[in-house]
Amino acid sequence: MMKTISFRLNGQAVSLKADPARRLLDIIREDFDCKGAKEGCGEGECGACAVLLDGCLVNSCLLTAAMVAGKNIWTIEGYRETERFRLLKAKLDEHGSVQCGFCTPGFIMAAEALLSKNPHPTEAEVREGLSGNLCRCTGYTMIVDAVLAAAREGEGSW
Ligand code: FES
Ligand code: FES
Repeated sequence: MMKTISFRLNGQAVSLKADPARRLLDIIREDFDCKGAKEGCGEGECGACAVLLDGCLVNSCLLTAAMVAGKNIWTIEGYRETERFRLLKAKLDEHGSVQCGFCTPGFIMAAEALLSKNPHPTEAEVREGLSGNLCRCTGYTMIVDAVLAAAREGEGSW
């Protein structure tokens, strides 16, 4: 049975009629054209679909419409309007961390979730914070270095 589901998406109040079991990943991509979140594994293992829910990193392939009612969701489309995004993106570019780019939105959301809670992470903490995200191209070190640089050079941003 369809239900009206209301939540906030990138700072805007939105609502839609949906099957409460419909996946958040499909809702944001198909109904709201937020295509930065990607379908990789579809099983919560790769982080390609990562978004923020009330500030916490979540895999949108595992969330249903019912689970996000009344919540605050940020996708890369909203986050990319921020200074913090620009800093992270610049550091990822400088370190050659964006190759095919499939994983990049998920890594950026994971980095934001990490840095907003821990603005001065150690390398081990960055690796831990990004451990739910898979990248087939970079070998991870370039991404970790970029996030460490963003933390260091973005002093006061997080
Ligand atoms: S597609 Fe959601 S975690 Fe892989
Ligand atoms: S840059 Fe290709 S999967 Fe990460």
